[in-house]
Amino acid sequence: MKLMIINGPNLNMLGIREPGHYGKGTYVELVALIEAYCKEKGVEEVDFYQSNHEGDLVDAIQGAYFKGFDGIVINPGAYTHTSIALLDAVKATSLPTVEVHISKVEEREAFRRVSYIRAACIGTVSGMGFAGYLRGIDMLLERGEG
Ligand code: DQA
Repeated sequence: MKLMIINGPNLNMLGIREPGHYGKGTYVELVALIEAYCKEKGVEEVDFYQSNHEGDLVDAIQGAYFKGFDGIVINPGAYTHTSIALLDAVKATSLPTVEVHISKVEEREAFRRVSYIRAACIGTVSGMGFAGYLRGIDMLLERGEG
């Protein structure tokens, strides 16, 4: 299995940004956690991409398809709630994709309850902190083994 982990806007600010919602861990620590988990799980390859720009995230989703990745874990950040382009990109690739949110989006502002990308995802994980990404990876692995 080759997995692509995509993070959207402001997730490079983890550790600095609203620790009450997102914790104190940094983006670098998140990457290290996921790398260690994938190693433990025997994942062949895991790649990471973070951008604050919507079109770059579309390119990363399409890139996962063209580079032969088997699945995507994506935290689209605020683009979750606004971006039809990201929804269409996931639909275009048909790659199994899990939507992850560090915070419990359903219990925050009403606008965070809307997710465009969700319609194209095989599952959503929210409110589990960094462990949510690991849960997302498990969902892809379980599906792959299935
Ligand atoms: C987030 C939740 C979004 O509402 C927010 O805009 C983010 C992060 C999360 O991980 O909890 O940037 O996706």
